[in-house]
Amino acid sequence: MDTASFLSVALALVALVPVSLLLLNRLRYGKLPPGPRPRPVVGNLFDVKPVRCRCYQEWASKYGPIMTVWLGTSPTVVVSTSELAMEVLKTHDQQLADRSRSRTSEHFSHGGQDLIWADYGPHYIKVRKLCNLELFTPRRLEALRPIREDEVTAMVESVYNVVTAPGNKGKPFVVKDHLAMVGFNNITRLAFGKRFMNAAGELDEQGREFKGIVTDSIKIGASLSIAQFIPWLRWMDPVDQKIFIAHEERRDRLTVKIMEEHAKALKQRGAQQHFIDALFTLREKYDLSDINVICLLWDMITAGTDTTVISVEWTMAELVRNPRVQEKLQEELDRVVGRDRVLLETDFQNLPYLQAVAKESLRLHPPTPLMLPHKASASVKIAGYDIPKGANVIVNVWAVARDPKVWDNPLEFRPERFLKENIDIKGADFRVLPFGAGRRVCPGAQLGINLVTSMIGHMVHHYKWTLPEGVRPEDVNMMESPGLVTFMATPLQLIATPRLDKEELYRRVPSEI
Ligand code: HEM
Repeated sequence: MDTASFLSVALALVALVPVSLLLLNRLRYGKLPPGPRPRPVVGNLFDVKPVRCRCYQEWASKYGPIMTVWLGTSPTVVVSTSELAMEVLKTHDQQLADRSRSRTSEHFSHGGQDLIWADYGPHYIKVRKLCNLELFTPRRLEALRPIREDEVTAMVESVYNVVTAPGNKGKPFVVKDHLAMVGFNNITRLAFGKRFMNAAGELDEQGREFKGIVTDSIKIGASLSIAQFIPWLRWMDPVDQKIFIAHEERRDRLTVKIMEEHAKALKQRGAQQHFIDALFTLREKYDLSDINVICLLWDMITAGTDTTVISVEWTMAELVRNPRVQEKLQEELDRVVGRDRVLLETDFQNLPYLQAVAKESLRLHPPTPLMLPHKASASVKIAGYDIPKGANVIVNVWAVARDPKVWDNPLEFRPERFLKENIDIKGADFRVLPFGAGRRVCPGAQLGINLVTSMIGHMVHHYKWTLPEGVRPEDVNMMESPGLVTFMATPLQLIATPRLDKEELYRRVPSEI
């Protein structure tokens, strides 16, 4: 064979590779939904933009509301409309309720021995029952209300200390710093029955270790190596393994220490309402190992801390971009609560506009815009396409809530839409799914809503919020940060001006529980 013929045969063979890959995929996976063309081995990994909900929305406008994205060597099916969300989370709920675990979540959950990362099976059903029947009951949420009210008043006080410090009048500050404190203290107290922060806002030794572990978890999770997506490349990354194990041991060590302290206290003063008490008391009934208890407690920290903080930061951004809404909310708060006392959760029922503001914010800015990844435990057909067993399945709830086919002027922040119609946001209405829906719906939804509503209500009742001098509403960066949860890419900085006369209303109301 001469060189020219050899070259043409070689080129023809190379050209055949994508076609053969396509045929192989077809044989292996059936008729997958369309999507961006994957490259060999890495798939679309290098095409996906960091803020995935936006990237998937953009791709959906090109490839359709159900599409396949290849993150490495396995297919991920992404759906972006309310009807398809219903197919995933209702019609085929049971077959699509496994979790796809990244290397990080595989380690942190000890292979799915928790709730968040457990596959849908006997263990999951057991711990989910425990959550629904024991941990997140209306009675327990009510019993833990003093913690939320304490922490929300502590937030008001920490803002007050900043804005009334000498030389600070009219100066902007980072809002998230004050919100994060509530997120952390509320969830650690609720789960572990312990406040790791003193009255001056300083963390004790365990608290510092706790924060360190949380920060490291985020760092380790974010430093995704390519081996995360391509399992057979994992041998290239032995360092990861050591980091994971060291991190796991550090987390488990601290948790066991807190659990031991708690066990002692439990003997002395009997069980209280915190999750750790419930888990101690119920561990035999539900046959829970130490690892199960540790993982469940950490699930609550992971799922319940940032989500609430993120929601309130986005709401504050919308309120300064829409002063009309802020004023209307202040008018409602003054009328119902008055200016002589602080807001209580029992006031919520008389504050429809406050509730609508919280809902509208969770619609436009769901903190987990792609929910958590689901995985198919069996092959199913959706919209004429095959979703093969083992495929990851994602609902882009961010895109669903911005779909002009189901929402009027979807990009407008208009809480009134929730007054006009009684729209559920806890999984019953597939147009707005900040907490997901179906069997894996967020068990902490009501707790999250209560805390978010209370934080917004307090912030707006106590302070008038404005943008820093020279910043126009359209200058606020409304871009999300990359990641499973989406903070604002640029932390929001605002000016707060106290609007209630009595100074004592700005002081923390501590609760002993
Ligand atoms: C505004 C606040 C919150 C939002 C927006 C939110 C949202 C979500 C979403 C979207 C999921 C995934 C649903 C799915 O995969 O289908 C989820 C799961 C979960 N959330 Fe929340 N959440 C919030 C607050 C909380 C709180 C306060 C807790 C607990 C203290 C919590 C605990 C959990 C747990 C344990 C899961 C896993 C459920 C499972 O896999 O079965 N969440 N959450």
